[in-house]
Amino acid sequence: MKNLLPIFLAFLFLNLIACEPKKPAPEKDNLEGKAWWKEGVLYQIYPQSFKDTDGDGYGDFKGVIEKLDYLESLGITMVWMNPFFESPMVDNGYDVSDYRGINPRYGTMEDFQAMLDGMHARGIKFVLDVVVNHSSDQHDWFLQSRSSRDNPYRDYYHWWPAEKGTPPYRHSLFDPEGAWEYDSLTNAFYLHTFAEQQPDLNWENPKVRQEVYDIMKFWAEKGVDGFRMDAFQFASKDTTWPEFPEGHEKDFIKWYGMRPQLHEYLKEMYAEVIEPYGVFAVAEGAGSTFQDAHDLVDADRKELQMAYHFETVDLSRTPEGYDLADFKNVFSKWDSAFAEKGWISIFLSNHDNARMVNRFANPDPKFITPSTQLINTFLMSMRGTPFTYYGDEIGMTNIDMPTIEEYVDVEALGKYQAAKSSGQDMEEFMQILNYNSRENGRTPMQWDATLQAGFTTGTPWMRVNPNYTEINVSAQDQDPTSILNHFRKMTKVRKENPALVYGKYELVQKEHPDIYAFTRKGEGQNLMVILNFSKNSSSIKLDQLPTESNLIINNYSDVNVNDQDMSLNLKPYQALIFSFD
Ligand code: NOJ
Repeated sequence: MKNLLPIFLAFLFLNLIACEPKKPAPEKDNLEGKAWWKEGVLYQIYPQSFKDTDGDGYGDFKGVIEKLDYLESLGITMVWMNPFFESPMVDNGYDVSDYRGINPRYGTMEDFQAMLDGMHARGIKFVLDVVVNHSSDQHDWFLQSRSSRDNPYRDYYHWWPAEKGTPPYRHSLFDPEGAWEYDSLTNAFYLHTFAEQQPDLNWENPKVRQEVYDIMKFWAEKGVDGFRMDAFQFASKDTTWPEFPEGHEKDFIKWYGMRPQLHEYLKEMYAEVIEPYGVFAVAEGAGSTFQDAHDLVDADRKELQMAYHFETVDLSRTPEGYDLADFKNVFSKWDSAFAEKGWISIFLSNHDNARMVNRFANPDPKFITPSTQLINTFLMSMRGTPFTYYGDEIGMTNIDMPTIEEYVDVEALGKYQAAKSSGQDMEEFMQILNYNSRENGRTPMQWDATLQAGFTTGTPWMRVNPNYTEINVSAQDQDPTSILNHFRKMTKVRKENPALVYGKYELVQKEHPDIYAFTRKGEGQNLMVILNFSKNSSSIKLDQLPTESNLIINNYSDVNVNDQDMSLNLKPYQALIFSFD
């Protein structure tokens, strides 16, 4: 016994270590106050379109590693990468078949670790996409679940036995036939809010929740710094399956999202993962009211730290574009709802949207540079963490895809089917799809003017936008007036001017038809942001005007002020930031 004691003690010690989170919790942020994820600028990488190093036509981790210095040069401080896990790729990776395995298309776990370490060495944090409202139908849990009614994994998903008749209608966001799918194997229907191959996980089952927390811990221990919770507002379901009124799906979030139980689960997740590992989490979706959004992110609730809503990206869904008055309104009302408490992200594009340049700036070659610079100035000047989608730092644009044959996206194909069967005008439908489809935002990154934009030496998984010969990183890198270098300037300006992060936001001359002007005051600074959203010149009268010494940002080489009548004349899409007393 005497001899065994040291062994026993060593065993006990090792066990204790194993039970502790391996990643030491960093110093706690004051969640109501300052935090790295508030001060950061996030850059979103769609991994299959970023940089391919093995010539298979898909981007990979080694490609990201090759571009780490580029990422650092942008001045961004966080990367959110879309899913790269094992997946049959029905929804480009948002159908996960192994949450701990890497799709070989992107590389190996060693490559992942090298990429993560490379980011950390450059001061860049990594945000993992967590897709757990649903899994793939090829996930082992689902294969087991569907195999028999008494399989231990049966309750990992939602099933409706067919002997009870047809289940109450549930709407699917991707499947025009609805969210219940009949499976003859066990004579039952399973629920899928998205595609048929994406069955919804049963969050009401504590075992499922524990599985998810274990997965999150697995990645936190590898060193990831944050999580983006995919479609998470829909995770909890009313499993008594009441009938919903006809047409309810027009108010989808209200009927399908933000059940009270969701908050219990988030609190549990916070206690199990977020807090002990010192990571942060951002939700896709923020409910349908400000209260919903606050309930997700207010620090005292200990659920999540950030959310993003869709009201701003939804402003421009047809080629007619948007109205500046609405744009000002939406951003201002969200700012005021979060002025005292809570935190949201600020963005105008991502992998679920067409390109920001076409929807919010002006792709006309005459205006693309100043208008994209203007939008990037705006995003970096608002309260909230700016999210930039890859390619928006160089002004990548929509790709023209007028016919349905070229579309591969499960969402686009579902919408097409639905439009066709409801007898819509298909010419008009295709026009809108061509403008609005998320395929537009997924084309390969345009690195240079060589074949395939320097993205791959093989055949790219998706056609490169033919405008890569003009719009590319290499063409803009050395040009101080480029969209790219303006972006770099803006990340620096945001870092150096904490008023842009924490300062109070106030609209100036709300009714101005062309100019969006606002102040950011705080942290000992007063800043004025003046943006001319018009392709024509426009002017505004102000109490204080920019001068050479107080001008912080100008996307033109000069400013035209008239001291006599205190007016400022702005060129098309001119964007200025200046400090004032
Ligand atoms: C939201 C993701 O952003 C989107 O790309 C995906 O198709 C759905 N969730 C389903 O996971």
